[in-house]
Amino acid sequence: MDRIVIQGGARLEGRIAISGAKNSALKLMAAALLTDEPLTLTNMPRLADSRFMGHLLARLGVRVEEGPGAQMQLHAAEIGDTFAPYDLVRKMRATFNVLGPLVAREGQARVSLPGGCAIGARPVDLHLRALEALGAEIELSEGYVDARAPKGGLVGAEIDLPFASVGATEHTMLTASLARGETVIENAAREPEIADLGACLTAMGAVVEGAGTSTIRIQGRERLKGITHRVVGDRIETTTYALAVAAAGGDAVLDGAVWAHNKALWAAMHEAGVTAEPADEGVRVARNGDRLDSVDIETQPFPGFPTDAQAQFMALMTLAAGTSVIRETIFENRFMHAPELARLGADITVHGNEAIVRGVARLKGAPVMATDLRASVSLVIAGLAAEGETVVNRVYHLDRGFERLEAKLSGCGARIERQSE
Ligand code: EPZ
Repeated sequence: MDRIVIQGGARLEGRIAISGAKNSALKLMAAALLTDEPLTLTNMPRLADSRFMGHLLARLGVRVEEGPGAQMQLHAAEIGDTFAPYDLVRKMRATFNVLGPLVAREGQARVSLPGGCAIGARPVDLHLRALEALGAEIELSEGYVDARAPKGGLVGAEIDLPFASVGATEHTMLTASLARGETVIENAAREPEIADLGACLTAMGAVVEGAGTSTIRIQGRERLKGITHRVVGDRIETTTYALAVAAAGGDAVLDGAVWAHNKALWAAMHEAGVTAEPADEGVRVARNGDRLDSVDIETQPFPGFPTDAQAQFMALMTLAAGTSVIRETIFENRFMHAPELARLGADITVHGNEAIVRGVARLKGAPVMATDLRASVSLVIAGLAAEGETVVNRVYHLDRGFERLEAKLSGCGARIERQSE
């Protein structure tokens, strides 16, 4: 199994190219099921997760071809199968998004209940309630969801989400685009990935208004068409490299980063004493050798501080002067990086959904391991700032969501390499 080996202490100077957003790309790929014409996605991140989604779609009959550069073409001329088995769904939650599109296009589907990162219970009740509101009949048996459209197909409806769930909002948008009439989603999630999906579905022929706000209106269509769509830049990859520069020290431009997608992060970084400012085609982040100030954060749905950046921010706060309180409100079990950061000398106490981080003057390299994607990369950040060698094991978590991580960081002066056993 591969591992990442880091010799800490090098400043990061230069430019880092931000890839397309994993969490947008995976849902855009599911949109290919809605049309018999080819959907071409550009700025696609090359990740284990996008390859995995490709495998599932191929099994359902979609022709998936990776083109030159960061392009992917998906062509669902016909749906060959409406069954998504456990083995292809359990590893990655985004695969569950094929359910609604299959029911909308083929009238029925059988899809395994999903898995994903082990960060909480992560039920799908809101997804299923939304599909039922559109008229689907749903049965759960033996770990599978069996869903069937009524005669005449799915019909638009008003759906008021009790929580602004990203996945349920996106799943409803995808499905409603092929349902008859208008669907209104109230208390919709507002993440930039939702606006990206809305733009793609609109270009495909559905009329999606308000994606990126709390009320989304979707006029479904009987047929959607193939188009070319550019995947939005990855705001979580952006936060990750911004926090890496802040932790290790240095001065770098994140090319392709969208300033407006990370305002809560920039505010927290300013409070900590880090420079972050819009730059040509991206964002510049810089920190000299001064000690960081401690900052309290609480994760919130967009535009609040993202849960997907919480672990990385905690890595930064381990080196701040003073105590920082980090509250996680989205997932109930998302502090698994805390004991691993402690191996490097961090002083962190976790009480329920709160972590108290008492800053230390320096971290020291150590072997570490993490159980989810963002937790793993927080250990890379800590390793870049630590003295000596850090070995991050279980690299497959990183490969799920970070494209060419070692190359991007070593291009800026980090001493980091991948070792295969
Ligand atoms: C998406 O997950 C992202 N994943 C997550 O990123 C991200 O952390 C999360 O949104 C929040 O921003 C993908 O896009 C593939 P939710 P999702 O539905 O859609 C509860 C990463 O590291 N809930 O907004 O699953 C749920 O349990 C990943 O890239 C229900 O109770 O997030 C959670 O506590 C990790 N019932 C909360 O809502 C439901 O039916 C937020 O979940 C759905 C969700």
